[in-house]
Amino acid sequence: MNQETVWRATAPSNIALIKYMGKTSHEENRPSNGSLSYSLDYLRTAVEIVPSGGKDDSWEALQNPEYPTPPQLSYRGMERFLNHFKMLKEVWQIEGIYCVRSANNFPSDCGLASSASSFAALTLAAAELARDKRPEITDQLDVKRLSELSRKGSGSSCRSLFSSWALWQSEGAAGVEFPVQNLLHQAVIVEAGKKEVSSSEAHRRVVTSPHFSGRVERAESRLKKLTEALNKRDWRTGFEVCWDEFQDMHQLFETSEPAFSYMTESSRQVLKHVFQYWENNQDGPWVTMDAGANVHLLYRDSQRQMAEELKADLSAYGQVIGNV
Ligand code: DP6
Repeated sequence: MNQETVWRATAPSNIALIKYMGKTSHEENRPSNGSLSYSLDYLRTAVEIVPSGGKDDSWEALQNPEYPTPPQLSYRGMERFLNHFKMLKEVWQIEGIYCVRSANNFPSDCGLASSASSFAALTLAAAELARDKRPEITDQLDVKRLSELSRKGSGSSCRSLFSSWALWQSEGAAGVEFPVQNLLHQAVIVEAGKKEVSSSEAHRRVVTSPHFSGRVERAESRLKKLTEALNKRDWRTGFEVCWDEFQDMHQLFETSEPAFSYMTESSRQVLKHVFQYWENNQDGPWVTMDAGANVHLLYRDSQRQMAEELKADLSAYGQVIGNV
């Protein structure tokens, strides 16, 4: 039997604690400020690239029982994904027509974004193709350069090439080491539908907020503070910095022109519940929210029992998914 030639890669999703929000270039996804994320290694996208007999590159759902969920790509979403592949082919001068297949190992209706993991996995799979077709350019395929190229597809994907901590300041991200590792993750899915304002649109709108003045300084100063807190294992300060940071970003959304909001009544209730938990126990999980209504929680591995307890409580507001 003829074995199909296939180039594959997988990449994780990541959650930013200091947010990428606002760009200095929309064409190249250059961020206004540095961001810091933690990779969610259990939430992954797999990409396979195969030669195709077609006229143009195409996309289809990957069939793999370990990655049961194809991303629900709109026509524009598919176009954006394939344009990224086309850009990579041009940069690396790869000839030929291919079919790109992708799927996630997490449900698409759970409200978790897969663009970071998708674009990172596509960049990595295309790099496998480049290694094979153009071995003479292998020295151009180091992870630093791949991160810079992935950024052009979708900014936050440049951080998904590193596990677990990734710091993205300008061109591409880099892995960073902190004495805080093996975090547990939960997301309270209060809203699973597609959001009305995409994160790319949010990046455009935030600069119209009066609150955007000083945003870069605020984000950079929190980045410094969070880095120090992580190095000192100062969990409470870390919590406070992350809390202020996502609230700052959501305030930008709510004060931009035209204003928009992702927060729902349930998001607010989850936030209130976790805040109260901290008040009562002087300890708790880190909390953050992206450009969406769902609430993300990160726990130290010693907080497993707390995570189980809070999971039971927070299920009142939405489905709680996670690796605990
Ligand atoms: C709120 O990376 O989705 O999740 O570069 O336009 O594709 P594009 O934007 P995207 O923005 C993510 C924004 C965020 C914060 C973050 O992940 O840092």
